[in-house]
Amino acid sequence: MAEQKATNIVWHQGAVTRADREQMNGHKGCTVWLTGLSGSGKSTIAVDLEKRLCERGVRTYILDGDNIRHGLNKNLGFSPADRTENIRRIGEVAKLFTDAGVVALTAFISPYRADRDQVRALMPDDFIEVHVECPVDVCEQRDVKGLYKKARAGEIKEFTGVSAPYEAPLTPELTIDTSRQSVDASAQQILAYLEQRGIV
Ligand code: ADX
Repeated sequence: MAEQKATNIVWHQGAVTRADREQMNGHKGCTVWLTGLSGSGKSTIAVDLEKRLCERGVRTYILDGDNIRHGLNKNLGFSPADRTENIRRIGEVAKLFTDAGVVALTAFISPYRADRDQVRALMPDDFIEVHVECPVDVCEQRDVKGLYKKARAGEIKEFTGVSAPYEAPLTPELTIDTSRQSVDASAQQILAYLEQRGIV
C-alpha cells in the first residue's frame, strides 16, 4: 500500500455524478484489465476491441504499458517495487476513467496477483480482469519486439517469463488463449461479456 503523505486534505464533491455522465454517454464505465506475458497479445486485442466499441459509439481509452512508461511512469523500471508502483498508478488512472463513464482498456503485464487485486479492491464492481493467456514459448516465437532474444542473451534483466515471474489470475472474469484464438474472436468474446453485463 502506498503511504498517504498529505495531511489536511478534504474530499471535494462535484455537482455532476458518474450516473449523470453515464446517462449522457449511453453506456456505463468500467475497466477492462488485460494481463499476460509480453507478446501475449494484450495491446493488439485492446486496439481491436477499442475500434469495435468506437464503431458503436462507446467512449473508450487505452492505457498501454509501453506508452504510459514514456510519460506518466517514465521514472519506473522493472524491479518488483517499480512494477507495483506502475500498476498502482495505472489502477488509480483507470478508476478515474471509469468514474468519468469511460470504458478504460488497460494493457499491462501486471505480473503480480497482489497488485492486480489491489486495483480490483479500488473498484470491485467495475474491474473486469481478462487473462490473455499464451504459453511463453509461443510469445517467444512471436518475439515481435525482439525482447525475448535479448532477455535470453542476458541483455535485459528481470524479463517476465524468462527471469522474472508471472502470476496468472486465479479467478479472472475472462480467459483468452491467444495461441488458439484469433484477435477477432478474442475481441468479440470481451464485447459479448460487456453486453451480457449491461455495460455497453
Ligand atoms: S509491468 O510488469 O510493470 O506491468 P508493463 O506492461 O508496464 O510491465 O511494460 C511491459 C513492456 O515493457 C513489455 O511489453 C516490454 O515491451 C517492455 N519491457 C522492457 N523491459 C522489460 C522487462 N524486464 N520485463 C517485461 N517487460 C519489459
